[in-house]
Amino acid sequence: MGNVVVVGTQWGDEGKGKVVDLLTAQAHVVVRFQGGNNAGHTLVVGGKKFIFHLIPSGILYEDKTCLIGNGVVVDPEVLLGEMDKLEGAGIRVTPGRLYLSEKAHLIMPYHKALDLAREAAKGKAKLGTTGRGIGPCYEDKAARVGIRAVDLLEPDTLEQKIRSNLKEKNFFLKEYLGAEPLEPESILESYLKMADRLKSYITDVSKILEEAVNDRRQILFEGAQGTHLDVDHGTYPFVTSSNPVAGTACTGAGIGPRHLGHILGVVKAYTTRVGAGPFVTELTDMVGDHLREQGVEFGSTTGRPRRCGWLDLVVVRDSARLNGLNSLAITKLDVLGGLDTLKICVGYEMEGMKVDSRPASLKVMEKCKPIYQEMPGWEQDISGARELEQLPQQARDYLVAIQDITGLPISIVSVGPAREQTIILGDPFSDP
Ligand code: GDP
Ligand code: IMO
Ligand code: MG
Repeated sequence: MGNVVVVGTQWGDEGKGKVVDLLTAQAHVVVRFQGGNNAGHTLVVGGKKFIFHLIPSGILYEDKTCLIGNGVVVDPEVLLGEMDKLEGAGIRVTPGRLYLSEKAHLIMPYHKALDLAREAAKGKAKLGTTGRGIGPCYEDKAARVGIRAVDLLEPDTLEQKIRSNLKEKNFFLKEYLGAEPLEPESILESYLKMADRLKSYITDVSKILEEAVNDRRQILFEGAQGTHLDVDHGTYPFVTSSNPVAGTACTGAGIGPRHLGHILGVVKAYTTRVGAGPFVTELTDMVGDHLREQGVEFGSTTGRPRRCGWLDLVVVRDSARLNGLNSLAITKLDVLGGLDTLKICVGYEMEGMKVDSRPASLKVMEKCKPIYQEMPGWEQDISGARELEQLPQQARDYLVAIQDITGLPISIVSVGPAREQTIILGDPFSDP
């Protein structure tokens, strides 16, 4: 039995939370390795809906260790809020069940202020960020002025860093962006208070993973966002500021590449994206509305309506290469029910030429038109299916087309938000 990395293959919101929750049954340790509370991972368990932004989706299981790796940017207020909410729902969160890497960078109030003020200043040209301060926090990490979880344990260091950072941030906020400057004292006070609650969770996550490897306990790596939001490989600049690709599980959790195991790519049966940026198969017609309404495509983090379109396998094929995918989990197949004809984008056409991977230039991408393979749809509600044989032939053909065009096997098919609304075709843990 090996480990499994779950990544999004599109622009996020593929249903990673549900897939991670499902696989957690077989894991001992679940670890987030990048992104922050821009993520919104939804689980439906026992008829109850839970949305996680920072805590790994495995927390609903009693006997699992959940880790927030060094590659995650952590807003301590959001983390504590999430812990309180779980406690309120009767789920115990204690050190032992949850740990935070001492090397994880913290989102500070000035990161959120900068994110919001910059987006406002951009007007129509805005990226459509989640406004959670993700970009500015990763910027500070790269600029080597970031504040890390370990700094919460050293009040002097924390104070010195907040004061020094605020000099520059306040100048930029006030003089360039016309936003309100922030006071170091109140930030220090609130972060010291939060430090008190968080200190027993802060540890060396990499060592916990090493122990798990030595004891042959399975690790599940929970990706956030999606491959085409990757700051290197995505639709730059309409991307997030981290690397959601599978390789980041190593740097963002503190583990070597040979321990990653099976790389599972989550593919929504159609495409969505929230925020600005190119989207070749976008539908602004009734079919797009069908997908949004049937799929309840409204952001789990910001509540924004998601842009919807046909399944783009150019995007998924790129993800297969960029992540080294072993298999696919197809989600939300049920949402396609009721459509007469289904379309799958198998390539792009650009000024008479066929393009089979997503161009880096946005100008070139704007000229790309989708080449569709059409397939008949189905009328039935498939959300009760638990085996492939219970799906209508058209739905099975749709899955076969995905396998043929991507060259990858499908290990999981999801036909509804609940844990049990799933067809299992393979076991990623036993196929490293
Ligand atoms: P994530 O960010 O990749 O974890 O995905 P989100 O949680 O943001 O969005 C996926 C949404 O689809 C959530 O509301 C899930 O409850 C829901 N969902 C997941 N799988 C299925 C499925 O197979 N069918 C339907 N109808 N909903 C699903
Ligand atoms: P999960 O993990 C979908 C998008 C934002 C915006 C861009 C940059 O739930 O799949 P940021 O706040 O990261 O600087 O915003 O990235 N984005 C997501 N879209 N799902 C997510 O996470 C996302 N996280 C960020 O909408 O377009
Ligand atoms: Mg989401």
